[in-house]
Amino acid sequence: MKIAWGITGAGHLLLESVETLEKLAKEHEITVILSAAGEEVLKMYGLYERVKALTGGYYQELVLEKDQKFSYPLAGRFSLGRYGLLIVSPTTSNTIAKVVNGVSDSLITNAIAQAGKGKVQTIIVPVDLESGDVQTLLPSKLELELCQHCSTCQAAAACPQDAITPGVEINLLKCQGCGACQMACPFKAVSGGKQITIRMREIDVANTRKLDSLEDLKVVSAPSQILNLIS
Ligand SMILES: Cc1cc2nc3c(=O)[nH]c(=O)nc-3n(C[C@H](O)[C@H](O)[C@H](O)COP(=O)(O)O)c2cc1C
Repeated sequence: MKIAWGITGAGHLLLESVETLEKLAKEHEITVILSAAGEEVLKMYGLYERVKALTGGYYQELVLEKDQKFSYPLAGRFSLGRYGLLIVSPTTSNTIAKVVNGVSDSLITNAIAQAGKGKVQTIIVPVDLESGDVQTLLPSKLELELCQHCSTCQAAAACPQDAITPGVEINLLKCQGCGACQMACPFKAVSGGKQITIRMREIDVANTRKLDSLEDLKVVSAPSQILNLIS
């Protein structure tokens, strides 16, 4: 089956989404479409190259928002019914808020809108599903309380992207999530994949519930559930 898989700019459920995408790519032709933030966040978490490696060829492209300009011509494939399925996982609160209000001003929101018009089944994995606290993972982070302000910062020296300002911060827009800084710092002052607790906002949970009213759209709570649905 021809499947399009959209990734938005959420760190939450990102690794699980990529792992599920890798499994699906063994049996299906997959076009991967990234929101601009999706591209950035995939890089921050060191997952961009893994996703890119799954793509190549007609209907197996890696489609970047910045290459689609303002009218998102790729979305035409959905209105023409060229895909059997559109999956968006993970889906940010931002993208969901737009979708439930009928806004289509980005690559992924256009794909979802045109899938609706082309009667293409869409599966969405939202990051904001239920009220309450959830655990989520951060990308690389300088832990300032552990930083010893060495005269030569080993972490900064090891960074191939020159993303670290010693004793200050990691520029996540330069970071590719390779983890070299974590290995290099003798004081373990760079964390990677640190778990934090965040509260789901009611407005985001309420928006997610509204997805149920959209045609041909199914909401699932975890990327792995997609495999059961397809089989
Ligand atoms: C490291 C990082 C992790 C993020 N994780 C999330 C997330 O889990 N959920 C979310 O709704 N937004 C998250 N964001 C914010 C989105 O990337 C941001 O709202 C972006 O504008 C979403 O654009 P998009 O919906 O077009 O992808 C994160 C941002 C960063 C820098």
